[in-house]
Amino acid sequence: MKKMKFLIVPAALIGFVFSFNTASASGGEEPVHEAEQHVHIFEEGASVLKKCRACHSVVEGKNMHGPSLFGVIGRVPGTMDGFRYSPAMTAFGEAGNVWNAETLSTYLRNPRKAIPGNRMGFPGIKDQDDLENLLHYLETLKAE
Ligand code: HEC
Repeated sequence: MKKMKFLIVPAALIGFVFSFNTASASGGEEPVHEAEQHVHIFEEGASVLKKCRACHSVVEGKNMHGPSLFGVIGRVPGTMDGFRYSPAMTAFGEAGNVWNAETLSTYLRNPRKAIPGNRMGFPGIKDQDDLENLLHYLETLKAE
């Protein structure tokens, strides 16, 4: 009987990892309880944000190497007070763009290609789920 325990634990772990993988590979379309799903997306988004934190703060008005991400959704690109943007980013805003789910997706997938000449030294997010979770998280970074 003792041996059984050693088998059950790894099997449970494999089961967990497997279900986690299939859940994220299918675009999160399983009928998960809504509140649960919301928390899940929020946590996943927060975890993707770790990739940004080396250069970005989420504190209102706090610029670091990159501009604050607080209130980024709805912002005209290149307009954070006190941050020195590249001419490319300023021009992107002046061209009439606004940061929303669509413009952010394109930019964050491949920053260099989306806005040639911008100074964000980040290779991009290739995973669609990561990107969507991050966008949901960014939407929460605003004044109530
Ligand atoms: C290596 C540092 C670095 C990393 C990592 C990084 N960024 Fe940036 N980011 C910058 C810099 C620098 C700029 C300003 C670019 C410019 O002026 O051309 C910028 C600009 C931006 C802008 C435009 C904001 C505005 O005010 O117009 C957004 C949105 C953005 N980053 C989001 C992100 C997100 C989300 C991540 C993580 C997935 C990320 N960045 C990762 C350095 C970084």
